[in-house]
Amino acid sequence: MESDHFEPQIMAFFCNWCTYGAADLAGVSRFQYPANIRVIRLPCSGRVSPKFILAALREGADGVWVSGCHPGDCHYIEGNYYARRKFALLTNLLTFMGVEPDRVQFSWISSAESTKFVKVVNEVTEKIRALGPASRFAKHRPPHSIEGVAS
Ligand code: FES
Repeated sequence: MESDHFEPQIMAFFCNWCTYGAADLAGVSRFQYPANIRVIRLPCSGRVSPKFILAALREGADGVWVSGCHPGDCHYIEGNYYARRKFALLTNLLTFMGVEPDRVQFSWISSAESTKFVKVVNEVTEKIRALGPASRFAKHRPPHSIEGVAS
C-alpha cells in the first residue's frame, strides 16, 4: 500500500565542472537538502541526450534535473548552449506526449554556488512532488519510497 506522503525519485544529470562541484561543496558545508535526487556526473551538460531523460522517465523516475555551467562558462565552450537547445525541443516533445514539462528541470549552477544548489534542489523537488507520481509512460513503477527517506 502506497503511503500518502509522496517522495519523488529524481534523476539528476550534473556537469562535472560546475553543478557537481556545487553539490559536493553543499555536502562538505553540511547543508541540508532533500535526498530525492540520484546524481549522474557527466563531463558537460551538452553530453545529456534527450534519450537519457526519456529513459529515466520510462524506467520510473518521477522527474529529471539537468544542470550545467552558466552560459559562457562551459569548459567545452558551447556544450551548455547545445543542452539548452535540446532541452527546449524536448519540452515540446514531452508536451506532445502528454508528459508534464515540469517533470524535466534545467538550471545553471557554478561550483561555487552551493547555496544556490540547495535552493534549486528544494525547488526542483517541490515542483516534481506537486505533479505526483509519473505514470504516463513509466515501464517500471518502483514503490515510492527511497531508502533513508522518512515517509
Ligand atoms: Fe559544464 Fe559544459 S562543461 S556545462
